[in-house]
Amino acid sequence: MKVTIVGAGNVGASCAEYIAVKRIASEVVLLDIKEGFAEGKALDLTQTATTLGFNTRITGVTNDYSKTLSSDVVVITSGIPRKPGMTREELIGINAGIVKSVAESILEHSPEAIIVVVSNPMDTMTYLALKETGLPKNRIIGMGGALDSSRFKTYLSKALDKPANDIQGMVIGGHGDTTMIPLTRLASYNGTPVSQHLSLEELDEVAAATMVGGATLTKLLGTSAWYAPGASVAYLVDSIINDQKRMIPCSVYLEGEYGESDICIGVPCIVGKDGVEEILDVHLDEKEQEKFKKSAAAVRTMNEALSSNL
Ligand code: NAI
Ligand code: 2OP
Repeated sequence: MKVTIVGAGNVGASCAEYIAVKRIASEVVLLDIKEGFAEGKALDLTQTATTLGFNTRITGVTNDYSKTLSSDVVVITSGIPRKPGMTREELIGINAGIVKSVAESILEHSPEAIIVVVSNPMDTMTYLALKETGLPKNRIIGMGGALDSSRFKTYLSKALDKPANDIQGMVIGGHGDTTMIPLTRLASYNGTPVSQHLSLEELDEVAAATMVGGATLTKLLGTSAWYAPGASVAYLVDSIINDQKRMIPCSVYLEGEYGESDICIGVPCIVGKDGVEEILDVHLDEKEQEKFKKSAAAVRTMNEALSSNL
């Protein structure tokens, strides 16, 4: 199976590394516009193959889409990342142009590909990719909820002082500091509600830390994070390529689900070989529904900015 990653920067290269190390795909193509950059990343990664024991072929190319021919999955990470103090939304002007042209070039060579959108503001970029390509909704998937959920579980694990892999939890809504919705009510520690182990105040603190999880890292690193984002994309790609049918919150086009239409926003999905194969109808209580409505309104406002930015 072949995966193309457009943008060989921090997230793209990280994702390529995890795909190879975890043997998710047999072939990875890294593509970037910066002359020689993707080639360099691919060569460096390839030189870890014997040490780490993988056979995935990793190729780097400078803007040569012919090398992406017949990719099964294409990940779009091209664009600029956040700098400290910037919101994801401030990236819209530059990234919209990039995502639009990349999506067009991709489909010329891989008309059957499933596209995973990572570039920020991700929900709006996913919506843009869907509208510009006209692809069926199952084939355009925005990655944000997988990452936000992994951050949520990390903060829960710290608060509980228990291993993160014993914790289940999910973040839905927009992939933004004020739009994401950590579902604390449904989170569990090995099947037991986390509310049995943490106070309401502690749970609120976990939710707040999750929501600014990306901003916290941007402040520490001087740019946005890449290990957890790259791993989350690889996790999503694995579920597609290897038809894992995992339940992953993804940004996907809604047509009435969760009371919303004509928007891409994070909801629980079953992800398999056909991309988003099902949108799960998880019951939200009144408070959660209200948050979802507000989140969708904010994402929709962002989408409206697309017309003035293209
Ligand atoms: P980066 O700056 O390290 O890498 C971006 C790469 O894209 C650069 O190498 C650049 O040369 C390349 N690029 C720019 N225009 C291009 C084009 N037209 N064609 C091909 N390549 C092009 O940035 P990083 O940290 O990898 O982040 C990438 C994007 O992903 C940003 O928009 C960031 O905000 C977003 N992001 C999204 C996350 C999510 O959960 N959805 C998580 C982390 C980052
Ligand atoms: C993140 O959540 C900025 O979207 C990026 O790390």
